[in-house]
Amino acid sequence: MLQNKTFLITGIADKYSLAMYVAKEVIKQGGKVICTGLGVSEFHKDLSEKAQGFLNKNFNDFKLAIKQELGDARVEILDVTLEANMQSLAKKLKDDNVKIHGFLHAIAMDKTIRHKEVKPLLQVTKEEFCDTMDVSAYSLIRLAQYLFNYKILQPGSSICSISYIAAAKVTFHPYRNMSIAKAALERITIELADELGRMNGTRANVVRFSTYMGSKAGNATLNTSDVETANKMSPLGNASPQDLANEVVHLFRPNGRITGEIRHVDGGYHITG
Ligand SMILES: NC(=O)c1ccc[n+]([C@@H]2O[C@H](COP(=O)([O-])OP(=O)(O)OC[C@H]3O[C@@H](n4cnc5c(N)ncnc54)[C@H](O)[C@@H]3O)[C@@H](O)[C@H]2O)c1
Repeated sequence: MLQNKTFLITGIADKYSLAMYVAKEVIKQGGKVICTGLGVSEFHKDLSEKAQGFLNKNFNDFKLAIKQELGDARVEILDVTLEANMQSLAKKLKDDNVKIHGFLHAIAMDKTIRHKEVKPLLQVTKEEFCDTMDVSAYSLIRLAQYLFNYKILQPGSSICSISYIAAAKVTFHPYRNMSIAKAALERITIELADELGRMNGTRANVVRFSTYMGSKAGNATLNTSDVETANKMSPLGNASPQDLANEVVHLFRPNGRITGEIRHVDGGYHITG
């Protein structure tokens, strides 16, 4: 299904990342992947020892997981907050004559969620708001820009981002600051669907996924009771990471005519509550 197609997969932290399930499914369907992980790049300046330690551990865990789960897939460092890192990644791929047929945006970060506690919106600072927006939403524009401008993204490509129902409504587990970034991410995906579709037939879709505690991001935000509540509320129960991977790979298939869609892979949770 994805023979001779290569996809850039962002957002893998470890083997439990949603993006890892997508990468594995791409490979299973005959495609290739290039994976990016958060690590220390040549563009990071004045990093504290703590930040350096965090980023190094993150990149080592990422590389190990890729080796164990995906074998010899190409890996690259990517911190989406650094314009220069974004550009150098695109330039490197261009220099290596890499052509990609789509990418997965699976990146999110919100420092107002700590130890499963969500900061009320009234206490969110401008810096916290902008940082979350930058990493979790604007990064999709920037990534598309560089991949498009360097002509790495091939005509007729497919872009997917991952969101959550909280982008549209307040759920029993309100995310506040992150919900706003997810709403922006969804809108960005739809605007890109129009812009890139007209430019070179590239599609862009966003998938709203169930609550999932297996990943680092999920574990930092959710309690077991949240996952159980969502499971009970969903007519089909919570969707699994494999369900998500199946849908993303479906959207990655060449020659599709689906674009600008918000798909729900959530066992029907979005129709309840
Ligand atoms: N886990 C859930 O319940 C759930 C539900 C719906 C949507 N999502 C979304 O799915 C996506 C993947 O999340 P996940 O659950 O697999 O968690 P995860 O922790 O495995 O993935 C989040 C990724 O974002 C990366 N990241 C953070 N800051 C970055 C930066 N500056 N530059 C580059 N990468 C950066 C992290 O390194 C990590 O790989 C996110 O967009 C998340 O919001 C998750």
